[in-house]
Amino acid sequence: MDNSSQGMLPLPGSTFAPEVDALFYFIFYTALVLFVLVITVMIYFGIKYRQKSKETPLTSGVDKNHLLEFTWTIIPTILVVIVFFWGFNTYMTMNVVPKDALEIKVTGQKWFWSFDYPEGFNSVHELTVPVNKPVKLVMSSKDVIHSFFVPDFRVKMDVLPNRYTITWFEANKLGQHHLFCAEYCGKGHSEMLGSVNVVTEEDYALWLEKSQTVDESIPLEELGEMLYTKKACVTCHTLDGSILVGPSLLGIFGSVVYHTDGSQVVADENYLRKSILNPQADVVVGFDPVMPTFQGILRDREIDGLVAYIKTLKK
Ligand code: CUA
Repeated sequence: MDNSSQGMLPLPGSTFAPEVDALFYFIFYTALVLFVLVITVMIYFGIKYRQKSKETPLTSGVDKNHLLEFTWTIIPTILVVIVFFWGFNTYMTMNVVPKDALEIKVTGQKWFWSFDYPEGFNSVHELTVPVNKPVKLVMSSKDVIHSFFVPDFRVKMDVLPNRYTITWFEANKLGQHHLFCAEYCGKGHSEMLGSVNVVTEEDYALWLEKSQTVDESIPLEELGEMLYTKKACVTCHTLDGSILVGPSLLGIFGSVVYHTDGSQVVADENYLRKSILNPQADVVVGFDPVMPTFQGILRDREIDGLVAYIKTLKK
């Protein structure tokens, strides 16, 4: 990841980032200059006009000074008007999506991001986009409010259940950029991380092609191991027996699992499959019913892969 920054902000990675930064720095430095000025004058006057001895009479307060009143009304008004028009202009740039934008559907849910591409497949955690091309994001949430935040692009937009929110960006720096969830959404909020990979036009075409074909040559267990990280299982399920949001996957296959409804079952292949596709059907004692369904996110071979991988995780 590119962690470099210039000044206070991360390196600008989108077309409108410099515009946002310019306004930020204008407000910051104006405030800084005024702050130093006011404090300096205050200290100077405090010393100069202090009561030197008990006998010195107090100076009378200033009453009705039109020049002073105009000055402290007009200067702040000018500053506010500048910030308003500048900000409004930038706001419009950030909110009017160019017509030729590539449209990607973003779904936020506890606790991962998934991305649906127009070609008809999806990715979890990682959004891949071509450089120098406007990308429109149509976003919604499957549960609570999340917020899609890519600091390098200066893009932050809430992601809500039951309605779409729209944002866009045009990335102009190749490489990987951090993606955060910027709205507290429960236990796994801080784990709701991802990245935006900005690649060249050619690499994007290659990536599209690769993503659309199921690679049958990867052995199931290896595929499962890959998906464990790629599809965000790792956010909630450990491999070492420790407990995060959900039960650890270590030794789960073949073990007896107790459910909140009082039932118990031996975790076999069908149980694992059902738990991935319909997690709310059986909730394990001691855990909350928070796992999302992976129906529509995983292909059949991918489910086979995950089941095969989980079977290898013996105690
Ligand atoms: Cu999703 Cu915080």
